[in-house]
Amino acid sequence: KARRERRDRLHALLDRAAGYYARYLWESAEAAAARDYLARRGLEVETLRTYRVGYAPSAWDKMLLGSRQAGFSEEELLATGLAQRSRQRPGSYYDRFRERIMFPLANARGKVVGFGARAMRDNQPPKYLNTSEGEVFHKGSQLFGIDIARRPAARAGTIVLAEGYTDVLALHQAGVQNAVGVMGTSLTDEQARELERTARTLVLALDADGAGQEAMVRASRIAAGRRLELRVARLADGMDPADLIQQQGAGAVRELVARSVPFVSFHVDKILGSADLGDAEGKDRAIAELGPVLAATPPSVLREELVGRIADRLGLGRPLAAQLLERAAAEAP
Ligand code: GTP
Ligand code: MN
Ligand code: MN
Ligand code: MN
Ligand code: MN
Repeated sequence: KARRERRDRLHALLDRAAGYYARYLWESAEAAAARDYLARRGLEVETLRTYRVGYAPSAWDKMLLGSRQAGFSEEELLATGLAQRSRQRPGSYYDRFRERIMFPLANARGKVVGFGARAMRDNQPPKYLNTSEGEVFHKGSQLFGIDIARRPAARAGTIVLAEGYTDVLALHQAGVQNAVGVMGTSLTDEQARELERTARTLVLALDADGAGQEAMVRASRIAAGRRLELRVARLADGMDPADLIQQQGAGAVRELVARSVPFVSFHVDKILGSADLGDAEGKDRAIAELGPVLAATPPSVLREELVGRIADRLGLGRPLAAQLLERAAAEAP
């Protein structure tokens, strides 16, 4: 019972903070640059309000003082990660989040458990500062936007996974309401379990850069063995869903998800795309990599199409390509 009360107080403090930051974003003169910045990125007020996006003032103690006045203790401010201890002045505290755009992180029931905070400028690293691991915030099990996406995802049977906060907002704004964020590039087992609980089909919409593409392959290993049918939303090189809405609008973001492909198609294209197919040895290396990927796919029209695509790209007859792929699968460690 005492623990329940403790948790409720910490959640109430975090909820108060989210409300404070949101009000500060919309009402303060100081946040005008942040409002402009978000507008330039193509994010609409309604979307920002849905996710309770806010702004943390530049002062060192506004959150601290306001929360103290509202009846919360310094210890509670530390426990929620809103304040931290001063190194210079022992026994004193200061606000952790300053001059940043604030993205509240909520659990599946909509309780605020922490924040992701974006710097406004490149010379203010890190780009994102998060609540650190603690009594209420557990990064490994957190999915950004799960409270908002849960019902739409359950209804659709599909959940869309993006990397970043702004990506989730862009997807939602485009009408893809079943979108959540992994908050980085590595999907954890706990997150995969939560995704599996919510929907059968998982559409990966991670960034189309090296890190994002590698992360898709890692995510497929994490998802393997779970009841999750994996698909991939394919973005143009270097883009993420937030870039897409800014540059090409909401329609392009909807198309992105509507035109997702089975994970294995993405994987085969990724291997073909990065292979050196200029000589026989390069082709053999590609086949060694592709064999096990195809072997893990049940016999299907899709698999036959992929074998055909590989044969074309390697300039081999189809029966030979099929034979070499099978051998490669059998020989794979
Ligand atoms: P924008 O530049 O605002 O569009 O961010 P982004 O989401 O495109 O960032 P990026 O693709 O670099 O990273 C994806 C996600 O990883 C972010 O939304 C964050 O959740 C997380 N992330 C990125 N950089 C950092 C960092 O420096 N620290 C932490 N803790 N998380 C980060
Ligand atoms: Mn806990
Ligand atoms: Mn990225
Ligand atoms: Mn990104
Ligand atoms: Mn981005």
